[in-house]
Amino acid sequence: MTKQIRKIGVMTSGGDAPGMNAAIRSVVRTCAFHNIECIGIYRGYEGMIEGDFKILDARSVNHIIHKGGTFLKSARSKEFRTKEGRQKAYLQLKSVGIDALVLIGGDGTFTGGMIFNQEFNFPVIGIPGTIDNDILGTNFTLGYDTALNTAVEAIDKIRDTASSHKRLFFVEVMGRDVGHIALNAGVGAGAEEILVPEEDLGLDRLLESLEKSRKTGKSSSIVVVAEGDKTGKNVFELADYVEENLEGYDVRVSVLGHMQRGGSPSCFDRVLASRMGVKAVESLMEGKSNFMVGTINNKLELYPIDKAVKGHSEIDHELLRVSDIMSI
Ligand code: F6P
Repeated sequence: MTKQIRKIGVMTSGGDAPGMNAAIRSVVRTCAFHNIECIGIYRGYEGMIEGDFKILDARSVNHIIHKGGTFLKSARSKEFRTKEGRQKAYLQLKSVGIDALVLIGGDGTFTGGMIFNQEFNFPVIGIPGTIDNDILGTNFTLGYDTALNTAVEAIDKIRDTASSHKRLFFVEVMGRDVGHIALNAGVGAGAEEILVPEEDLGLDRLLESLEKSRKTGKSSSIVVVAEGDKTGKNVFELADYVEENLEGYDVRVSVLGHMQRGGSPSCFDRVLASRMGVKAVESLMEGKSNFMVGTINNKLELYPIDKAVKGHSEIDHELLRVSDIMSI
């Protein structure tokens, strides 16, 4: 018989993402609905090690569904990577009677949770929260949709100034080692070229394409560059390279940076967070552990955490072809 869950701890860890507050709210309210006590763990694994806990009830999460960031705060903990750190965290959880965890974060968060589960047989369920959308076992991570829209809005604004001055802009977007944000924001904002880590088209091809754009009458161009792209040059070096090798191009660089992590979550992220929080708590109640809640074809599915952290989700390669056609 599975042990009855009486107290669930919820935390956010790693890079914050829009929709994390909505997910916390959902976990807290689902716990309240099922008469389970919910404890907020502040500052991710750091707070778990230090016992930075607070009881959360349904009213503690009023008016946060629309807020960016995470009110529980987040951190990337070095100490939790050590056995001693995890032992301290375990003792802290036990001292207040927490018997299961909902972990909201990305692959670093899940790797920590998976090891913790193996060492202490502690029930954990993950909710994927990262703007990068790089987690296996889910079509969407929380925050990705919002970050995409933020990036597109920013690139639209850059387009206004680029076309007023006949300029070429290199715009760097986040995404760590994957190109989901670059590819989708690039297509959404009508970029002339998109450089993603998954496909290194080479610098010659970039020059050719920009030259072609100019010859066919384009007066301004946007190249979206994923921060993890594999050209071997950072975005500033790329801009210099193009300026040196293509005459008549007035080049500028814009790095969107952490603005992509902020802002009010989109409706899509709020709804997904609400659904995932319910699924996470109810899965723990059913005795499930060491899974991540994913969404596949708009259906929530449990995916083994150890598989989720094994690699990165694939970009849609067909979208690269679509981009080539659109930027003719
Ligand atoms: O994983 C989310 C993310 O924003 C990545 O896109 C980016 O590479 C990284 O975090 C930045 O991390 P930090 O906030 O620690 O600089």
